[in-house]
Amino acid sequence: MPDKTTHFGYQTIDEDAKQQKVASVFSSVAEKYDFMNDLMSLGLHRLWKAFTVRLAAVQEGNRVLDVAGGTADLSLAFARKVGASGKVWLTDINHAMLTRGRDRVIDEGFKLPSAQCDAEKLPFPDDYFDVVSVAFGLRNMTHKDVALAEMRRVLRPGGRLLVLEFSRVWKPLTPVYDFYSFKFLPWLGAKIAGDPDSYQYLAESIRVHPDQETLKTMMENAGLSRVDYFNLSAGIVAVHRGYKI
Ligand SMILES: C[S@@+](CC[C@H](N)C(=O)[O-])C[C@H]1O[C@@H](n2cnc3c(N)ncnc32)[C@H](O)[C@@H]1O
Repeated sequence: MPDKTTHFGYQTIDEDAKQQKVASVFSSVAEKYDFMNDLMSLGLHRLWKAFTVRLAAVQEGNRVLDVAGGTADLSLAFARKVGASGKVWLTDINHAMLTRGRDRVIDEGFKLPSAQCDAEKLPFPDDYFDVVSVAFGLRNMTHKDVALAEMRRVLRPGGRLLVLEFSRVWKPLTPVYDFYSFKFLPWLGAKIAGDPDSYQYLAESIRVHPDQETLKTMMENAGLSRVDYFNLSAGIVAVHRGYKI
């Protein structure tokens, strides 16, 4: 029986190999991650994240789970909203990314619980969180359906999942976006981070990620209700929102 395969960017690889390859990408980019994010998106990722946090509509006292939280942008924004009576968990599978996230949380004067864990096996009880978020993480997961079902499982009824991810850009912009992604990004990755391969993976992984409607259907199949989405920057990214009822 053949091994199950999956995408790693444009490569088709054994499922078992994907997590290791993704881990090596993020261990490699962790140190320059925040700087590169600002540079590559010209700061736009901050607006995309701010919009996601607004859509989440967290209240003081809420429990929030930031899945694949990396360097903690969303965790910190949520922490400012939930106040002392709430709780935000920063989680990520990757030690290097999580370490940078934890350091930033401390530098910003917060104390947040954190856990190194796989989104496909979340170490949290059922029906626990008011909000679960995953920003630019789902694309890297091997079994996205399993991860989405896990995120739904830990939401309380009435809770919502926010997925911020690269998506399908408005068609007329495709040639420019392709040039930017496949020529400029790897060049920038080589010049600034000394790591063109990780930025080539970024460009490829965006292209093989489900488009807006497909992800909406995947969220519905994972048991989320009233799923809607918002295109940002002409669909370069989209925020999907779904509820557990
Ligand atoms: C592009 S970074 C996003 C970090 C942060 N959420 C942000 O928006 O800046 C993707 C993150 O997903 C994490 N990741 C990849 N696969 C994961 C998995 N199966 N479970 C949890 N985190 C995962 C990586 O370690 C990495 O930190």
